[in-house]
Amino acid sequence: MFKIRMLVTAIALTGSLSVMAAEALPTTAPAPADNPTTAEKVELGKMLYHDPRLSSTGTVSCASCHNTMLGGEDNRPNSMGVNGQTGGRSAPTVWNAAFNKVQFWDGRADSLEAQAAGPVTNPIEMGMKSWDDVVARLKTIKGYRKAFDLAFGQDNETITKENATKAIAAYERTLITPNSAYDKYVKGDTDAMNAQQVRGMKKAVELGCTNCHSGPAFNGPGVFQKFPMHPNGYFEAQYHFKKDKGLAEVTKNAGDEHMFKVPTLRNIALTAPYFHNGSVPTLDKAVKLMAKLQLDKDLSDEDTADIVAFLNALTGEFPKQTMPTLPGTPGSSFN
Ligand code: HEC
Ligand code: HEC
Repeated sequence: MFKIRMLVTAIALTGSLSVMAAEALPTTAPAPADNPTTAEKVELGKMLYHDPRLSSTGTVSCASCHNTMLGGEDNRPNSMGVNGQTGGRSAPTVWNAAFNKVQFWDGRADSLEAQAAGPVTNPIEMGMKSWDDVVARLKTIKGYRKAFDLAFGQDNETITKENATKAIAAYERTLITPNSAYDKYVKGDTDAMNAQQVRGMKKAVELGCTNCHSGPAFNGPGVFQKFPMHPNGYFEAQYHFKKDKGLAEVTKNAGDEHMFKVPTLRNIALTAPYFHNGSVPTLDKAVKLMAKLQLDKDLSDEDTADIVAFLNALTGEFPKQTMPTLPGTPGSSFN
């Protein structure tokens, strides 16, 4: 029947049988037991997310690098933080980040709450000296007192690092883009994807892309994978893939070198440039490189175009965002 889930089966390159169950993107994201999603928390989180006063210079908010009016990132190879500083990594999208098993290219945060604590005190991102300074600043902004109390009750001091990161994470859990052409197709609307997109989907499965990119967000079943799998001096030099050691930057284990989190392919057509260092400007180049470096295959232009067409079917519907009104800071400035 129409609603029965499709099963796309393919013989994986290893010779074993791999099964890709096509799954639509869920419309809600599970929240941890100690941070249930509430409307008040989401509203506060949205304010904090868009507030540049969480940065030392008062110029950079989460939205500067993860623009939710666009694809949830900045379309830059390397994001720009306070005082024009740039790091070595490209900003991933926040849309559907709630479905990541771990956060960051090297997976160093295991939840959205843990992730949200990082950028604020990162010297090249938002540059605050400490979370104590952030909390002190938030306390001077009268309207935040009310918003934190509404979200977290009024018994104790509610303006804390923990509550701020919980609210931001609760907001991020609402950033979901369902109803892509692919989702409609999976749910039984066989006209939702055109013939080229269906061809591209089958090719992605046959080639083995879905060995690493499957599940509703195309970022599993595993968490980390080696990149590049098949050493290639030419491309590694051209795109500087040798420099960033991925998971090993965190664990310092030689065995973790160049292990990266498998990123989602949802909305991938909107989030150029590609890869952890943003070194690849277009999606067709990224697909060809993936085939070469992960699967040791040279893709023809035609196969590449089909797969790119399929990836375009993963662009979802962006829920309408209403921008928050931020409480003012009477009589203070940032330098
Ligand atoms: C200066 C730009 C910049 C700012 C400001 C910034 N981020 Fe990021 N964000 C990045 C970059 C770059 C990465 C990837 C870093 C890495 O993997 O080491 C990232 C990673 C993330 C991730 C992980 C996504 C994934 O797929 O792994 C989330 C979620 C996120 N940021 C949310 C936020 C939130 C919330 C804020 C505000 C508190 C914020 N970011 C502020 C640039 C920025
Ligand atoms: C062995 C596992 C593996 C296979 C197979 C694989 N990928 Fe990937 N893919 C990854 C990893 C890991 C990354 C992150 C690489 C990085 O930037 O460090 C990635 C990144 C990508 C990106 C860039 C994402 C972004 O946000 O910049 C695209 C697009 C992509 N893969 C598509 C494909 C396609 C299409 C195929 C099949 C031709 C494929 N992948 C096969 C593991 C894999």
